[in-house]
Order: sequence, then structure tokens, then C-alpha cells
Amino acid sequence: MEATAVVRLLADLGVPLPPAGKLIVRSPIDGGQLTSLVPHTPAEVDAAVAVAQSAFLAWRLVPAPRRGELVRRLGATLRRHKAVLAELVILESGKIRSEALGEVQEMIDICDFATGLSRQLYGLTIASERPGHRLMETWHPLGVCGVITAFNFPVAVWAWNAALALVCGNGVVWKPSEKTPLTALACQALLAEVAAELGDVPPGLSTLLLGGADVGAVLADHPAVALVSATGSCAMGRAVAPQVAARFGRSLLELGGNNAMIVAPSVDLDLAQRAIVFAAAGTAGQRCTSLRRLFVHEAIAPDLLPRLRQAYASLRVGDPRDEGILVGPLIDAAAFAAQQGALAEAKADGGHIFGGERVTVAGGTGGYYVRPALVDMPAQTDLVTRETFAPILYIMTYRDFAAAIALHNAVPQGLASAIFTNDLREMEVFLSAAGSDCGIANVNVGPSGAEIGGAFGGEKETGGGREAGSDAWKAYMRRATNTINYSRDLPLAQGVKFV
Ligand code: SIN
Repeated sequence: MEATAVVRLLADLGVPLPPAGKLIVRSPIDGGQLTSLVPHTPAEVDAAVAVAQSAFLAWRLVPAPRRGELVRRLGATLRRHKAVLAELVILESGKIRSEALGEVQEMIDICDFATGLSRQLYGLTIASERPGHRLMETWHPLGVCGVITAFNFPVAVWAWNAALALVCGNGVVWKPSEKTPLTALACQALLAEVAAELGDVPPGLSTLLLGGADVGAVLADHPAVALVSATGSCAMGRAVAPQVAARFGRSLLELGGNNAMIVAPSVDLDLAQRAIVFAAAGTAGQRCTSLRRLFVHEAIAPDLLPRLRQAYASLRVGDPRDEGILVGPLIDAAAFAAQQGALAEAKADGGHIFGGERVTVAGGTGGYYVRPALVDMPAQTDLVTRETFAPILYIMTYRDFAAAIALHNAVPQGLASAIFTNDLREMEVFLSAAGSDCGIANVNVGPSGAEIGGAFGGEKETGGGREAGSDAWKAYMRRATNTINYSRDLPLAQGVKFV
């Protein structure tokens, strides 16, 4: 049934069904095969990069506002096809409809952002110490950007990168997760369509490579790929980063998170409860920004924890296409095994588990559905310091605020964080240099669900990259410092004499 739906959805988007091949695409909804595709071979990466490189050489000379027109039109076509694309996201990633629509909306938002940016790729002028001299900074297109994306945000993360890379004058080679190639094919086809409409976009400016880690590795290693933007696990980053560094390439890494929230005594409990449930159970706990650790002040734990259990017990887990379902499936059997393994380890560590069991869903026998788990932990054990990509929330109580911050930061990852408090001092400390060490630190807002406009990314093992907002565009350009002498003398900097 889903295979037929894929054919219909692709036809609605005007995307021809590609030939069948060895890459089997399954839906996490029931584990059924959606289609099969021909993966690219590592040897084909070279050709894709060469095409993107020659397109880049022409595209870099196109005025940036004209480049913005391509991205503006991409945004317009995404608006038109929002509902259909979201259906494809649901089938391939298992997201519930509202989140799938949100994901497409995020693509539209970054297109709007990048279109405006195409008229603002500004540099600086700097006071020169030398008379009759001007010192300035200019920004130029960088080259080919390799974009490696993960299954959990199968299209939005591509758009974060591609929209900025394209207005910045670059070529793009996209390697999506092998679990979600259909949404990638659809987006790539929509971009190709608007590029053809525009008439002056060099062919091959954006290309798609389907396949597994072997294809991604060749892309990361390619000397003509100026920037590798990779989203995925810390393990993936550990493989990609040294490869790129060894050839002095530039990398932008969005890796694992182990996101925490501190719930302080002055909290608005209703607000906190809703935020916790969305952040920890939403997207079936499969966001990089999902809430995984909760530090609750011991004075309010007796109020908050029963509320959370009640909310978790009433969460509707099931087929993400059904109205009222809030938690869809895990992506596959390996994700389920990791979830079960983590819960077993939590139990051995003295954790007390609520939920976490496999849920049977009518017609979804091949899918892996679980009830999101709350786990009261006696301490932040080794398990809790690792990221398990599943809806498991480890709960720990605290008495001393400084100790809670220390525990909050005592993990290798540094993506997103939050505090729920109405105490101004606690809020300011959390946001200060002595507070959260994450790239994202929120107050009375959960750690997930970032909006376009702010830079997205994190510190430590999260990789340090920033995407999607603020001045993230600078990663996609090369900076030149220019000194112009409009005098008739040749003074040297620092007063050096050489005559
Ligand atoms: C993600 O990249 O996994 C999440 C983004 C978000 O929650 O905003």
C-alpha cells in the first residue's frame, strides 16, 4: 500500500520513478518496502563533484541577488508542494503529520532567509594605520559543498545547507541518509525544475548521490569538496572530521546531542510538563535536540514526576498518519535494539523505568513502536552520558543549583539545553559563561524545535558547526582581507623601514 502511495506522491510532484536497484527503501511505519533504487558507486562521486565544480565556476560570477532568485523560487515551489512532500516525509521517516509539515515549513523558512541574505553578503571596512589606505574584508564563493544528512530531518537539514550554499555562490553535492532517499530525490527534482525555469543556472550545480557510508566517505575525502557539512552521530563525525582535516578541507559538523533541562523550584509546572513531553517524546525521541536528561529540584519532584507519568501514559503511540497520534515508530530494528539495550542497562544501574515497552500497532507489525520511557536514575551513570537515539528520558533530582549545572555540563556532547525557572538569577547564571556549555541554551522553552534565524549547532562532541541562521553563511564563503593604497607613498605596517 505504501509502495503505491510513493508512486502517487512522486507523480504528484512530477518526479519520475527512478529505476529499481539494490538500495531497498523501507517505511518505518510497517517495515514494508517502499521502493528500491540504484545506489551510486564510490567511483561515481568523482563525476558528480567534477560537474558541481564546473557549475560552481560559472555560478560564482552570477550576482548574489540573482542567485537568491533561484532560492526564492525553490521556496515558492516548496510552498506549493508542502502537503505532498510532508506525506513523503511521513512514509520515509515515520514522523507524525504535524512534524512532517513543520519540516517542510523549515525548508521554506530557510529559503526566505537565504533570499534576503543574497542581498546582504556584506564585509567590513576597517580603520587602516597607514595614511591613504583602505583596509576591508570581502566574501567570495567557496566551491563545492558536500552535504551529508541524516534520516531524522531528511529534507530540512539539506535545505539549511543548500539554500545558504547556493546564495553564497557554491555548488552542492548532497548525500542523504540511505534510509530516506525518496524525499531527497523529490527535493532535488524540484530544485532542478526551478533551475531550468530560471535559464541561467549552470547544469549540475546541485547533484544528488544515493548510497551508504562508503559514498559519504569518498565525498568527504574528495580534494575538490571545499566544505563538508555532515549531520549524524558522533561516530560518523569521528570518521569524517579527520578525513576532511587531513586534506585541510573545511568541515561543518552537527553531531550527537545529550540535551538536558533543569527544572527549578520556581517553575511554572504546566509549562514545564508540556515542554518536557514534546522535547523528550516528540519525533519519537529521534531529534538531535531531543530532551534526554532532566534535573528536577527535589522540592518539586513529588509534584512534577507523577504529572509526567500521567502525561506519558496517555501519549498516543501508533501509525503516524492517524489523527491524534503523537509518537510514531523508531526508524528501524537497530534503533529498537539500542532502545532496549539502554533500558536494560538503566535497570542494571538501579534505574526505575516507566514505559519503554514495545507497542503493537494495527497493521504495523513490521514497525518498531515503543512507549516513551521515563527513567528515574540514582545518578548520572555512564549510560546517561551517552546519546541513545530513542525516547528515553533519564530523570535525576538535585538540591544545589551549582551542582545541577556541573552535572548538566558533565557529558561529552554540547548541543541543546534548557532551564525552567522564574528566578532571574538562576536564569542569568544558566545563560552566563558559568552556565550551560551548549550551543543552544533556552529559558522556559524546551531544547528542541529551533527556528530559522538563530545559528543552530553545538559544542564539544557535537562538532562545533553552526547552520541555518545568524552569520552561519560565513562557513560557505571564503574571506579575503584587502588593503588598498590610494596614496603616492608606500608606508609599511608597524612602521617598518626597508629602503
Ligand atoms: C535536529 O536537528 O535533530 C533537531 C532540530 C530541532 O529540534 O530544531
